[in-house]
Amino acid sequence: MKTRILRINPQKPERKKIEEAAGILRKGGLVAFPTETVYGLGANAFDRKAVRKIFSAKGRPGDNPIIAHICSIGQLHVLAEKVPEKALLLAKRFWPGPLTLVLQKKKGVPEEITAGLSSVAVRMPENRIALELIKKAGVPVAAPSANLSGRPSPTKASHVIEDLIEKIDAVIDGGSVSIGIESTVLDMTAGVARILRPGKITQRQIESITGMLDSAKPHPTEKPKSPGMKYRHYSPKARILLVKGYKEIEGIMKRYPGKNIRILRYGSQTEMARRLFDDFRDADRKGYGIIIVREVKDSGLGSAIMDRLRKAAMEKSRGK
Ligand code: TXA
Ligand code: MG
Repeated sequence: MKTRILRINPQKPERKKIEEAAGILRKGGLVAFPTETVYGLGANAFDRKAVRKIFSAKGRPGDNPIIAHICSIGQLHVLAEKVPEKALLLAKRFWPGPLTLVLQKKKGVPEEITAGLSSVAVRMPENRIALELIKKAGVPVAAPSANLSGRPSPTKASHVIEDLIEKIDAVIDGGSVSIGIESTVLDMTAGVARILRPGKITQRQIESITGMLDSAKPHPTEKPKSPGMKYRHYSPKARILLVKGYKEIEGIMKRYPGKNIRILRYGSQTEMARRLFDDFRDADRKGYGIIIVREVKDSGLGSAIMDRLRKAAMEKSRGK
């Protein structure tokens, strides 16, 4: 399949090109597009066949559900049943933005996007290209991150092309994303809300609206609430070693003589989030065997960064 590449200005999306991309979605095709977090691989959420194509293009396990992207709060009711008052308050406060709400799904929502669960994940992205694309398509757009399953999420169109060229109908090149790690996923189907995946919207920001969250980590025997959590993720081919301080590096160099080692350094957590996945991919292209990253404080945006680092550093034998 030939993949069409559409370069679109994120400040002022060209109408013609948005219409072309929306036309592909309406006809059941796959279009990768930028959001503020990472690039997504979109399909019409109500077109079962199109959604199935997402799974095969990415090599995604069939039990991992997909986020439906919308362009207005009103559209929430197309997907979700009985939206709790607190969910509406969160949507009003943080949408468009990097917060995904898991809600009880409406009947007609295809099981292809919910992977058979009774809930659906919904988010309104803060990116003009994404919002206009969803609006023109006229339907919610199902979109996981636009990478091959297990690879680092794409933060530039070139990453999408690296993984999915000739497997999808089109890629919108809207430049680099602004945040660089995926949205916060918040489960609102139980009495007390719970963060399933930390992201840019922090626990504290959410609690300022909802009151205390359920901060229990899922019990090891519990069926994962967010099936995506059990897979090894965000991983470059190189082995990732997390260090507490740069003093540990000398020891590592001695332990792996002759290994090609890349050390990643950042000036701030915001910069780290924005560049991390690009740096992983870059290290792979250059053939590094080991990537060393210094841990950050596990709170706020740091919790999201540490979550991705731990998953990327998981042994290859565990999960896939
Ligand atoms: O920032 C983002 O969230 C990006 C952009 C494209 O919006 N999307 C993204 O999608 O990261 P994906 O598929 O790579 O990650 C979605 C996560 C997975 O961990 C999945 O298991 C979880 O959300 N999820 C989706 N639907 C769910 C549901 N009904 N219940 C629980 N977890 C769900
Ligand atoms: Mg993903």
